[in-house]
Amino acid sequence: MKRLITFEGIDGSGKSTQIRLVCKRFDALGLQYTAVREPGGTRISEKIREILLQKENLELTAAAESLLFQAARAQLTAEVILPALREGKFVICDRFTDSSLAYQGFGRGLDLNTLETLNNYATQDTQPDLTFIIDIKVATAISRRSIKVTDRMESGGDAFMERIRRGYIELARGNPGRYRLMNGNLKERELFQQIWNILQEKYVGVL
Ligand code: TYD
Repeated sequence: MKRLITFEGIDGSGKSTQIRLVCKRFDALGLQYTAVREPGGTRISEKIREILLQKENLELTAAAESLLFQAARAQLTAEVILPALREGKFVICDRFTDSSLAYQGFGRGLDLNTLETLNNYATQDTQPDLTFIIDIKVATAISRRSIKVTDRMESGGDAFMERIRRGYIELARGNPGRYRLMNGNLKERELFQQIWNILQEKYVGVL
């Protein structure tokens, strides 16, 4: 049984906090899992991450950007995700294929079918079992990260973020079987409880 769980949302949605809480619960239960974040997670993927996020790389085209995200993903999938899944572990991803659809597709305007083809190529057709999309207003997300230095992707502006948010919502509506649209305004603990309930329902007898 494949156990790939992904978390998605705009920057500042609070998904990393929720992932931390899920991992803590997995630890408490003694469950075997691997947690990764994209882009990154392998030696090569971390190098690609630097290129993608450095603010001085202004000339990076949308096509080059999308291929770099896919290159980082291909490496992470082959080196970390697939081996862990084969060992029967849970794999928890902070961003995965849907980030490409949301950011490069809805955000940058690249063709969604092409991006899906690239996603499948990079991941060797690996699809998440379950994807939590933490939905939050752009203004709220921005206010949460106001003290942080922004990276290249975060410098895209409010309209860019708004398109990404709408994109995630559209993805969630299109496939309610895989996606769960979560309210990112809830208190940390309350949101975690909802996420945990969904996980328990999905993995009955395991969690
Ligand atoms: P990161 O600092 O990891 O942001 P976050 O904590 O919000 O996940 O930076 C990753 C950035 O890259 C983020 O702005 C989303 C973006 N991204 C894409 O545009 N496409 C992708 O395929 C992925 C994986 C991330």
